[in-house]
Amino acid sequence: MNFNLSEEQIMIRNAARDFAQTELLPGVIERDEKQQFPAEQIKKMGELGFLGMMVDPKYGGSGLDTVSYVLAMEEISKIDASASVVMSVNNSLVCWGLEHYGTEEQKQKYLVPLAKGEIIGAFCLSEPEAGSDATSQKTTAIDKGDYYLINGTKNWITNGNNATVYLVIAQTDPEKMHKGINALIVEKGMEGFVVGPKENKLGIRGSDTHSLMFTDVKVPKENRIGEDGFGFKFAMKTLAGGRIGIASQALGIASGAYELALKYSKERKAFGKEISKHQAIAFKLADMAVQIEAARHLCIKAAWEKDQKQNYDLSGAMAKLYAADMAMQVTIEAVQIHGGYGFVKEYHVERLMRDAKITQIYEGTSEIQKIVISRSILND
Ligand code: CAA
Repeated sequence: MNFNLSEEQIMIRNAARDFAQTELLPGVIERDEKQQFPAEQIKKMGELGFLGMMVDPKYGGSGLDTVSYVLAMEEISKIDASASVVMSVNNSLVCWGLEHYGTEEQKQKYLVPLAKGEIIGAFCLSEPEAGSDATSQKTTAIDKGDYYLINGTKNWITNGNNATVYLVIAQTDPEKMHKGINALIVEKGMEGFVVGPKENKLGIRGSDTHSLMFTDVKVPKENRIGEDGFGFKFAMKTLAGGRIGIASQALGIASGAYELALKYSKERKAFGKEISKHQAIAFKLADMAVQIEAARHLCIKAAWEKDQKQNYDLSGAMAKLYAADMAMQVTIEAVQIHGGYGFVKEYHVERLMRDAKITQIYEGTSEIQKIVISRSILND
């Protein structure tokens, strides 16, 4: 057992930390307020290889391991969770899915520009009536011979407007239930595909969340991922890795808030001394540090299992459940330590607290993670 990071992993973590400080921190409060997508920053992240981190270099990626991805996600999320969700979706849900299950033609056409960050992708599973109950797809993809005809609506889609490539999950044969679902690659601009208005959200307000409407959209058969009926398994397998990304995002949000609270506690004085010297605050910081370290270990363990080609469904779900709930608690405490200052925007912690909430909801709510975990431990 070796807890040391490799030189390369440390270098990636430092590069992500520098990028977050120099490129993401300036303007992060304004982007949150104005709900502005960090387009320029995402472009730079693509150029630095952060959008296709684990993709084989022969497909334009950085060829790194999942542990490096976790480290980079933590650093980016400390500063700007609206940028890190773009990074997470593009890496874990879109690039990973295409690299592992796409055809060579699909990889050349879509994966290469996605991994280089020249374009970004979206993963379209959720619907108005299919969130946690993901098998209950109402969007249809009817087999018309050499193409599928897609009709329906997808909700809360990250990168909804800024994406160029959309992996859309839809029902082809309802009689086969989840075994009749397909995953199709849809391009922006295909006739009948309309992006709805941007959602006005509590947190990650810079991220670009939209509903998508499909009316008789013709998608060529060669855009189906995997065999006929593989769509639901594709979504589940892809989300299993996505959960490691969101767990790391939650970890980063929490550690960002903790670092701010620690610094503030050493500067702010009350009753004649720094507030860090009051046990009430020092114990809060101790609890936060332990929780963050535990989440970090869960995230890295899940990433390591993925890198070792072991099954990571359980460890990924555990990491996401723990890190998301922990991020909510830690960010609330960070606001509390800041007192009145924590409640205003300039101190960042109120934004981090709002951003933490979504990590308990997307890519499987905390309750869904408990389903995955309990089924896994009970079946063992
Ligand atoms: N790997 C491979 N296959 C899997 C799997 C996995 N991790 N998990 C489930 N499956 C397979 C099952 O084996 C089963 O297939 P068979 O019938 O062939 O055995 C099939 O999928 C159906 O599984 P279940 O019977 O377990 O299905 P269920 O209805 O009980 O639901 C669930 C399972 C885990 C609750 C699932 O519906 C789920 O994960 N729901 C949450 C959906 C979700 O995470 N949505 C996030 C939206 S994307 C997003 O948020 C992205 C973003 O923008 C940030």
